[in-house]
Amino acid sequence: MTSFEGSVAIVTGSARGIGAAIAGDLRARGARVLGVDVLAHNGLDAVVVGDLREEATVERCFAEAGELPGTLRVLVNSAFWAERGPLLQTTQAGWEQTLAVSLGCTWRMIRAFAPRAGNDAAIVNLASVHSFGAVAGFAPYEAAKAAIVALTRSAAVELGPTGIRCNAVAPGFVAVERNRAIWEDQSKLQALLRAYPLGRPGRPEEVASCVAFLASSESAFVTGSVLKVDGGMSAQLAEAMVR
Ligand SMILES: NC(=O)c1ccc[n+]([C@@H]2O[C@H](COP(=O)([O-])OP(=O)(O)OC[C@H]3O[C@@H](n4cnc5c(N)ncnc54)[C@H](O)[C@@H]3O)[C@@H](O)[C@H]2O)c1
Repeated sequence: MTSFEGSVAIVTGSARGIGAAIAGDLRARGARVLGVDVLAHNGLDAVVVGDLREEATVERCFAEAGELPGTLRVLVNSAFWAERGPLLQTTQAGWEQTLAVSLGCTWRMIRAFAPRAGNDAAIVNLASVHSFGAVAGFAPYEAAKAAIVALTRSAAVELGPTGIRCNAVAPGFVAVERNRAIWEDQSKLQALLRAYPLGRPGRPEEVASCVAFLASSESAFVTGSVLKVDGGMSAQLAEAMVR
């Protein structure tokens, strides 16, 4: 298991779902972890409860992370919010909030992290299979997630000379509390699973272990990359559905 002893990590969206699994995993690997979320939670070395669209929340994160023993080495951007529904019914407020949270908080945290981090630091952003393909009803989310891939490349290029790497993971369907209505419904689950060569949804811990790889020196020469964590879903042609 990769060790993060002596490292401080900040994980956004740490109250639940994939962000919670990532925060717990980095902690189990020896990092001191500060989590930040709009939802209260505990079990980490430090927790900031606040909205990351506000600069004051960002500042609190770095002030509190600075109090933890160790070198600031890891930033994982997992927080997101998205308006769902047909493109033509997208609202101005929903569009703006989706971009402000899912993309804007990632940008804001990268901008604050880089000047404060050690020169062997790593940023891992949560992209998605929706960064590369579309499903009706996800337009604002897909725009934000595609932009996160672009931002990952930009950060990799600009921060590379300082020794800071920036990569992303792109999960397929991962069963979390938020999407319980899909994986608990047998007909929806069966339809979903046909799209996955591995025949099951992903687990949050399986995303977390890939994030740990990209955050660690095991991937020291990897930057600007996106690692698909999708059970082979994007490798399979949709034609498989009619065979
Ligand atoms: N679950 C999946 O199937 C899946 C698939 C691909 C990508 N992802 C990505 O993984 C990440 C985590 O997704 P999840 O499924 O665990 O979702 P989730 O809703 O369980 O977790 C998201 C967290 O972000 C927090 N958050 C929302 N707005 C915030 C704000 N303004 N400031 C601070 N925190 C805020 C929420 O409170 C929540 O705890 C997201 O970036 C998502 O796009 C998830």
